[in-house]
This record gives sequence, structure tokens and C-alpha cells, in this order.
Amino acid sequence: MLLGSGELGKEFVIAVKRLGHHVIAVDSYNDAPAQQVADGREVIDMLDGLALDAIVARHQPDLIVPEIEAIRTERFYDYEKEGIQVVPSARAANFTMNRKAIRDLAAKELGLRTANYRYAASLEELHAAVGEVGIPCVVKPLMSSSGKGQSTVKSEADIEKAWSYSQSGKRGDIAEVIVEAFVQFHTEITLLTVTQKNGVTLFCPPIGHRQERGDYQESWQPCMISDAHLKEAEEIAEKVTRSLTGAGIWGVEFFLADEGIYFSELSPRPHDTGMVTLAGTQNLSEFELHARAVLGLPIPEIILLKAGASAVVLADRAGTNPYYTGVEDALGEPGSDIRIFGKPATRPYRRMAVTLASDQLGSDVDALKAKAIANAAKVKVLNTEL
Ligand SMILES: Nc1ncnc2c1ncn2[C@@H]1O[C@H](COP(=O)(O)OP(=O)(O)O)[C@@H](O)[C@H]1O
Ligand SMILES: [Mg+2]
Repeated sequence: MLLGSGELGKEFVIAVKRLGHHVIAVDSYNDAPAQQVADGREVIDMLDGLALDAIVARHQPDLIVPEIEAIRTERFYDYEKEGIQVVPSARAANFTMNRKAIRDLAAKELGLRTANYRYAASLEELHAAVGEVGIPCVVKPLMSSSGKGQSTVKSEADIEKAWSYSQSGKRGDIAEVIVEAFVQFHTEITLLTVTQKNGVTLFCPPIGHRQERGDYQESWQPCMISDAHLKEAEEIAEKVTRSLTGAGIWGVEFFLADEGIYFSELSPRPHDTGMVTLAGTQNLSEFELHARAVLGLPIPEIILLKAGASAVVLADRAGTNPYYTGVEDALGEPGSDIRIFGKPATRPYRRMAVTLASDQLGSDVDALKAKAIANAAKVKVLNTEL
């Protein structure tokens, strides 16, 4: 049972279907991308524990695979006790549902270097928190993703805006926000990390990415970083994933700054920036790795086969029944590919597709990035109904 049926879930479903499994895809709306390729579907509010219990009782899944954070993950502990495998584990899903648990675990319990941070549950507390953390700082709802409700405070005057924006962009009913000191990083990476039921922890070559409005725009692999930084990132990823327990792929996010490496956050599931692996950069994509890891199947090796890049195609308006022009243009050159997610509705900045570009190992990753961006710009998302 897949909880959350977006584009990442869709590729995961394809990967497990290829291994012969039966999948129920769940989301809050009908015809979500992963539901289009699954065996069955449910439409519920996944933050509603009773609704979650009801579909688990109805389908009796062997595995529960979360694809998003905003789920009533407290219920997962009971499911695990009932013998259902929660991916990667109830603890991991619960700790990462809300930025607070994972940040306190990383910074306080594990002693990892993170941006200096405070919490605030009201506008007054936000003023105080910004005062302690300093300006500039980043304000994020405790429960949100893809930059929703997230903004940077550059002056006192931004604080009130940041609070109201956080309240309009949050998922669920938690008003509290995290306030993080702004890290002046030169590089941002995702280290895809695979924990196995029977086997050592594996790492994919680092993926670089660029974010706007807290949402990823392009990603590329490999991202060249120093051996020392790579070793440190792997050690941190190993430490956090071991503490959270379970088997599956994780997207561990780091900021690389002149003063060193910062742990930022992690997803206990495939990562959006890891869609670059759909360009065939590795022998197994992040979705195939997740499928093998959660099913307890062997992963003898992860090898980099090609250099690649991905770039997002965003909608610019609200509407339904989207269609796409420019796809022929975007696929014209060797090494170009696209994934159109099949989302039934658009809204401004909603990610609708990614373009992929790849070439042999050792080729210029910046050129591949430019190619993916140029191809994404050729694709227009239009609506039959606004
Ligand atoms: N403390 C920070 N300093 C500088 N940039 C940040 C900071 N926190 C977040 N960002 C930027 O915003 C992006 C999204 O933030 P993140 O915490 O990863 O939220 P999400 O859960 O929405 O991915 C990051 O990838 C980074 O580019
Ligand atoms: Mg992130």
C-alpha cells in the first residue's frame, strides 16, 4: 500500500510491479499519478487516523510505503506491531513527518552540524526566535514540503509576512514553525542512501541541485565534491539512517559551505532531485533501489553509468485536463527524455513533468543541465479548462 501517489510514487509502483507485486495507491484526490499505474486505489485524507485504519483493515497490506510526510504516522507503530512492514520503519516515517523530531534528533542527540535553529508557535514567538537566530533566516512550517509556506526573512519587516505565509502553506493543523539561520552554502547535495534488511548501507554518487522558492529546479549527477566532504556526508547519512532504523532508500540533504558540511534534512523515501536517476545515470534508479531494499532483494552494487541532469516543467496557472506542447522539440536530440506525470489538475508552480538529459560518463554536467533546462522550456503546459 502506497501512501501518497505523486510522481515519485508512480515510478516506485512501476518498479515493484516489474517485480510482480500488487499495489494499492492512496492519495487525497482521485487519479493521482501513481494510481494510474497501480492495481487499486483509495482516496482519503491521510492525516485522518481512522480513515487510514479503515483502508489498512480493508486491504491488509504486507507493506506500507509512505510517499509523503503528511500522514498520521503515529498509527504506523500499531501497524508495525500487527506485523505490517512500514517503510523504512514506523520510527523513521514518524520522525520525519514533522521537522522538529528529526532536527532535534540530528542536532541534539546525534550532535550533527545543522543550521542554528529555534521554534515559534505564534507571531510573538517568531519575533523572539528571529532575534535569537539572527537575520537572514529561513522560516518553515513544521509540516510542509516543496517549499510550501517557506520564506526567507531578510529584515524585521519580513517577519509578519513570513508568519502569515507559513500559516497559509502548512500541511495539517500544526501552526508551529522552525526558524533556521541562513546557511551561505556554495553547493547543495542529496546523498541517496540505501539501508538494507540484509546488507551494508550503500550510497549513490552525490546529486547536486538548485532550489527556488524552496522547490527543486534542476538536479545533476554526479556532483563533484571533495573526498573529505563525501566521506563526512556518508558517515552522517549512515548515522542518521541507523538511528531511524529500517530498510529503503533515503534522500539525505546537505549544505556544503566554506566552514564545512551541514546536515539539512532527509526523506525516508526516494527524493525528487533523485529523478535524475531516471536518465539511466545508475545501473538501478532510485525507485528500483527502493523497491529492492524494501522487498529485501539483493543490491550487489550501485554503479554510475552515465552523467545526467533533470529539470522541472512547472504549470503557471490553475486549471484541469492539462495537455502538453513542445514534447517533440524536447526529445529531438540524443540523450533527451521526459517524464510527464499525468496530474489531472494544474496550479501555479505545480511540478507537472521533468526533462532528462544524459551522456557518457565524464561528459560536462553543466552542459547536460543546460540541455535539460532548454528542453523543459520547450514544453508548455496548457489547459482545456481553466
Ligand atoms: N537554513 C537554510 N539556509 C539556506 N537555505 C536553506 C535553508 N533551509 C532551506 N534552504 C533552502 O530551501 C530548500 C528547501 O528547504 P528544505 O528544508 O529542504 O525544505 P523541504 O522539506 O520543503 O524540501 C533547501 O533545499 C535550500 O535550498
Ligand atoms: Mg528538502
